[in-house]
Amino acid sequence: MYALRLHRGFRAVVRQTMKRGRADNCRMELSAEDRLFVLTGAGISAESGLATFRGSGGLWNGHRVEEVATPEAWEANPELVWRFYSMRRRDAMAAQPNAGHRALAKVEERLGERFYLCTQNVDDLHERAGSQRVHHMHGRLFESRCERCAVPFVDTALYESVLPMCEKCGHAVRPHIVWFGEIPLDMDGIYAELDRATVVLVVGTSGSVYPAAGFVSIANRRRIRTMYVGPEEPLNAHAFDDIVLGTAAEVLPGLW
Ligand code: OAD
Ligand code: ZN
Repeated sequence: MYALRLHRGFRAVVRQTMKRGRADNCRMELSAEDRLFVLTGAGISAESGLATFRGSGGLWNGHRVEEVATPEAWEANPELVWRFYSMRRRDAMAAQPNAGHRALAKVEERLGERFYLCTQNVDDLHERAGSQRVHHMHGRLFESRCERCAVPFVDTALYESVLPMCEKCGHAVRPHIVWFGEIPLDMDGIYAELDRATVVLVVGTSGSVYPAAGFVSIANRRRIRTMYVGPEEPLNAHAFDDIVLGTAAEVLPGLW
């Protein structure tokens, strides 16, 4: 039920009553009791120069991400999978955090443990902007793990011809990434945070990959405030109280 999956063919009917804001006049009021749950997607790193998955340029050498980010792709063609993640490592190393990442680190300084950031991104730009309470539900780009020993370790290497093998047991080493059909990391911890949050902010995700795309519905069942920030409406736009149309770097610094 938790496995990573793509919602196909669904187009949200946008509620006419939805409140919409523009980048220049949107603020999020937070009281001393509020607990902020933030979910980010590829869009928050777009202004750092990292391509999103489903926008223009979302194809890699003619492959959709769902074709290289699966256990089946790994089984059939580990070289292709490692080339894909090596390219992403190279791109992420060259990128710098943007004003959107920095605004989230700044609001965390103010809220402390009343802040929780769940990201679908595997890059490390949130950490490099200063965020501390970050959970990478889809894994981390700069970690790998042996298929058999299964213990993640820090790995910044690029594997474009020779594939890595475990030094202990000789099995193949794979990216520490959650692929389609696999279970995202620490779902229980995420749901516990959603259960005690009072405000949910979602930034830069198309709302097409579950379970993350369903977090806003959980917030709705608890009747807590929800806001989406991004340049276009996500597929699950109908579920949000507020939609702020603008980029992360434009909107987030002015939000608090
Ligand atoms: P998508 O590529 O599906 O969506 C990116 C979203 O970011 C779109 O809704 C854009 O409108 C928005 N966006 C673009 N530029 C932006 C900006 N400057 N500021 C804010 N938003 C912007 O990426 P995700 O929804 O993150 O999983 O994709 C979810 C998952 O699917 C990924 O984590 C990845 C992928 O397959 C794995 O690889 C495991
Ligand atoms: Zn091993």
